[in-house]
Amino acid sequence: MAVNRIPTVEGCRAAVARARKAGSRIGFVPTMGALHEGHLSLIDRARGQSDWVVLSAFVNPLQFGPQEDFERYPRDPDRDARLAAGRGADLVFEPSVEEILPRPLAATVTMGGLTDALEGEARPGHFDGVLTIVTKLFNVVQPDVAVFGQKDAQQAAAVKRLVLDLDFPVEIVVAPIVRDSDGIAISSRNAYLSAEERRSARSLSRSLDAARSLVEGGERDAARVERAMRDLLDGAPDVEVEYAAVVDPERFTRVERIEGPSLAAVAARIGRTRLIDNAILVLDDG
Ligand code: PAJ
Repeated sequence: MAVNRIPTVEGCRAAVARARKAGSRIGFVPTMGALHEGHLSLIDRARGQSDWVVLSAFVNPLQFGPQEDFERYPRDPDRDARLAAGRGADLVFEPSVEEILPRPLAATVTMGGLTDALEGEARPGHFDGVLTIVTKLFNVVQPDVAVFGQKDAQQAAAVKRLVLDLDFPVEIVVAPIVRDSDGIAISSRNAYLSAEERRSARSLSRSLDAARSLVEGGERDAARVERAMRDLLDGAPDVEVEYAAVVDPERFTRVERIEGPSLAAVAARIGRTRLIDNAILVLDDG
């Protein structure tokens, strides 16, 4: 079945309005395109929680730093539309930059606190760019439920907080990380990796496995867990660690003792490619 592809804000609003009038609960999956199995799992989740699913594919210039990969970010709208349709999305919203950002913005969304560390520290302005565009997309689509991936754990937490603080009438669902058979978290940026770099990229998920087994074995000292993660990453060729941290999963502040739910998070550069991954650390004693 051919999916409905719409490039304009007006067309998207009209299509969603028709679906809503027909009684549908609207689900939404925001993406930057270059769809892969991780994104498609979010469509599955959205379909489980709604009757009519919109996927947006928009490479958002506001969330890329000046030295980042906005220009070379992979783009293949026909393939995206085919994959989204195959997975049961009802509408693909694929606006141009001019459609979404016809003029420089005077009004933007900013957040402090949980966005200060990790990705926020490594990528100044990134989360303001994400939250501004997510706000605009929420206002265009007006979904009842929106699905985000745990792959970008800090982003998912920031979006939840955005919705809570600013009273958006949308339910946020966070879906688990989809991995390839070698453990690597699937990412559009994996396409940049050479065969050797891909082998090195396995060190990210392995460092998280190491963190998990240390904590399962009773380790409670976060610094020791972080050291083990960093050693694993440092042992792989061409991996430059940006952070390997144990943090509070809602506030994204460093923890010293692992005494409640915690998140192990890593970011590393492999050649020119920046990758992130994370794992929830579960305490055996509850
Ligand atoms: P993008 O990187 O395309 O990711 C879109 C959504 O897919 C995000 O919620 C992300 O967490 C999720 N995702 C990516 N890889 C995944 C994986 N392996 N398993 C599960 N989910 C995965 O995140 C963005 O785009 C943008 O910041 C966006 C929210 C669209 C705003 O521009």
